[in-house]
Amino acid sequence: MKQFIAALPKVELHLHIEGTLEPELMFALAERNGIKLPYADVAALRAAYDFHNLQSFLDLYYQGAAVLQTEQDFFDLTWAYLSRCQAQHVVHTELFFDPQTHLSRGIEMGTVIRGISRALDQAQTQWGISSCLILCFLRHLSQEDALATLEAALPYLDKIQGVGLDSSELGNPPSKFSEVFARASALGLKAVAHAGEEGPASYIWEALDQLKVCRIDHGVRSVDDPRLIARLAEEQIPLTVCPLSNTRLKVFDKMADHNLLQLLDQDVCVTVNSDDPAYFGGYLQENFEALARDLKASREQLRQLALNGVQASWLPVSRKKTLI
Ligand code: ADE
Ligand code: ZN
Repeated sequence: MKQFIAALPKVELHLHIEGTLEPELMFALAERNGIKLPYADVAALRAAYDFHNLQSFLDLYYQGAAVLQTEQDFFDLTWAYLSRCQAQHVVHTELFFDPQTHLSRGIEMGTVIRGISRALDQAQTQWGISSCLILCFLRHLSQEDALATLEAALPYLDKIQGVGLDSSELGNPPSKFSEVFARASALGLKAVAHAGEEGPASYIWEALDQLKVCRIDHGVRSVDDPRLIARLAEEQIPLTVCPLSNTRLKVFDKMADHNLLQLLDQDVCVTVNSDDPAYFGGYLQENFEALARDLKASREQLRQLALNGVQASWLPVSRKKTLI
């Protein structure tokens, strides 16, 4: 089964680049930038990755991102992730970055985007791995902050294909951001949003109807609303589901409880993704393997999930055809 999964051409649609910061690289960048981490060593840091919900993870994730300071740091981070893509036969990736996490520390937008983009361009040239870049707004901050962030990204719009919405979901509904998503749409950007990870199915409706997103990130709480499931299936609105993330953040107690195959059975366009692989114990290969092992997903189901990833991507139709 491992070989079968490894041989599948895979596409990743839900990946936070800051969530690929492995403890070893975090320590190396801390040293390079003269930052003292509040952990004795890599083992102590890994031991702290024991989360009980989304917020307990986000607190560590934002703290870790503070070691990223220079363009070279963002390049090294992205290059390390793309090397994993190359090793795991991930042929296309649409990745998120969280500029507000960096702008608030005095890092410039250009530093972040240039570092990430240089690595993306090099992976395309060297390995043929294609990519899109999605600027995420942090939903625990205000819409005004999101608007200012979009404004700061205007000189780099040629390097960004879409906007997203992430961070603490409960109490921060998509409707809070309708204006900034309308502005992004007017600029020609595509839109996605995290919804229905910890939050209710009503947040998924809001993301679709008020933010006009073309995919829902996570969306596993959609099973609570049969009318929503019917709409997702009818309109083939993709869900970018992240199995290892959902179990690590206790959205499901254990992998065997995950509803991914239930969603697939209901004709929802479910895709498999790794979210924050450095924190959740695996990249795309390991997420697929977990489905085979713990949900007893068949080869046919795994192939369908990989194909859904291709279909749900922003690749041109001509390239999709070569991957299907
Ligand atoms: N930021 C990084 N990972 C996230 C997740 N799983 N949910 C919301 N915000 C995030
Ligand atoms: Zn996410």
